[in-house]
Amino acid sequence: MKQAQLKIDREKKLSKVSKNIYGHFSEHLGRCIYDGIYVGEDSKIKNINGMRSDVVDALKEIGTPVLRWPGGCFADEYHWKDGIGEKSKRRKMINTNWGGTVEDNSFGTHEFFELCEQIGCEPYIAGNMGSGTVQEMSEWIEYMTFDGESDIANLRRKNGRDKAWKLKYFGIGNESWGCGGSMSPEYYSDVYRQYQSFCKNLSGNQIYKVACGPNADDYNWTDKIMSRLDPNWHLNAISLHYYTIPTGDWGKKGSATEFSDAEYYSTISKTLYMDELITKHSEIMKKYDPNGRVKLFVDEWGIWCDVEEGTNPGFLYQQNSMRDAIIAAINLNIFNQHSDVVGMANIAQVVNVLQSVVLTDGEQMVKTPTFYVFKMFKPHHDATLISSEISNVSTGDNQNEMPALSCSVTESEGGIFATISNCSLNDDITLTINQGNVASAQIITAGSARSYNDFGEDEKVTLKDYADFRCDGDSTEIIIPRCSVVSVKLQ
Ligand code: AHR
Repeated sequence: MKQAQLKIDREKKLSKVSKNIYGHFSEHLGRCIYDGIYVGEDSKIKNINGMRSDVVDALKEIGTPVLRWPGGCFADEYHWKDGIGEKSKRRKMINTNWGGTVEDNSFGTHEFFELCEQIGCEPYIAGNMGSGTVQEMSEWIEYMTFDGESDIANLRRKNGRDKAWKLKYFGIGNESWGCGGSMSPEYYSDVYRQYQSFCKNLSGNQIYKVACGPNADDYNWTDKIMSRLDPNWHLNAISLHYYTIPTGDWGKKGSATEFSDAEYYSTISKTLYMDELITKHSEIMKKYDPNGRVKLFVDEWGIWCDVEEGTNPGFLYQQNSMRDAIIAAINLNIFNQHSDVVGMANIAQVVNVLQSVVLTDGEQMVKTPTFYVFKMFKPHHDATLISSEISNVSTGDNQNEMPALSCSVTESEGGIFATISNCSLNDDITLTINQGNVASAQIITAGSARSYNDFGEDEKVTLKDYADFRCDGDSTEIIIPRCSVVSVKLQ
């Protein structure tokens, strides 16, 4: 069996791993909001104030810390006043980005805050800079956060909410280089400066402003934005969007469950690219912000496959396999390792769209392999990153060679916690950890990288206790099976 070593330096404490790295993203897209989250109060599906109880419970189970809404591309055609007041009178609009469906706006600002309250998470709102006005954006913030007497705040009261909400995270434009307005970085940064001036802190609420960042490796975008905005005044974070496209071809992205070993490895190597992206973007950020005031929010990430056969191509519905669990673990380990700069990450998207943690079909709900990774990684929330070094084993095929193991180690009141994934399809690896006090371990694995959980069937991919480790004096030997994610708790 192949061998590797994990050296943990308990004395070397690094950055805090914000729990917001474990955030989610919900867009008015396909069956994410309607069906997936919101079914309405009259639905026969169990709900509280219209929110599906099974989905809310699942999101509570993984400790969802923050939820981004209403898009995505949808955010830049969303006009918040369409989504308030008497539901039957709300304006109907075309969702031009996602299948041209009619959006009836029955899920709006009040419903979103209700959802966040039920989950117990922070709201993160993406404002419309692409097709909305400065006044519209500034009044939305007033509507949500102003506690005093104004016509806008009184409108909120008339619509049933007396007390202002607390809103911290606010994005100014989404993918402004693309669906959010096809802007150049120079133009975006000028317009951004104007819009952000009117995102006011009202009634003690403090807005944390998120500027639209680059598409994947568009380093010029990051450079221009960071050089033209003042980190002390204009922004608190800049976003990064990067999706794993299995084939690398947007026209034929590849199936979520039927893929060759070669496609599996090319997918994993594309996922590992996230590390280089964060490293290089953060180097540029540091040039203009040496004190690290501005954080990087990876507020869209995940695997993007072809839609499932027979489903609307505009709805982006895909299954979720053991491969997705490996992808989630690699990304989350990378975010933890970069937690000095990554302040938030939001997997796309929370339900029924792209790499979801849950899928729904009528009254049924399935927890995906990705769900179990989020559940396993919970002890990392708000823990402290500990220095660790792994002597890796190489895997892959003649097209793509990569390290088999990915890892991160944190410390919290609960002790030391390590998460390790092995992406090899062939090799189990014996990992020797330089600590002899492993108290417990858990594992996510399945018969195949293509295994997935489906409606009406027993779960094929789930989280289980794992006992294949042996503590011996000052070290522990643990087997990390091929295509698995393992967590280890040390006393
Ligand atoms: O998550 C789906 C889409 O991907 C989002 O709407 C957009 O921001 C990105 O291109």
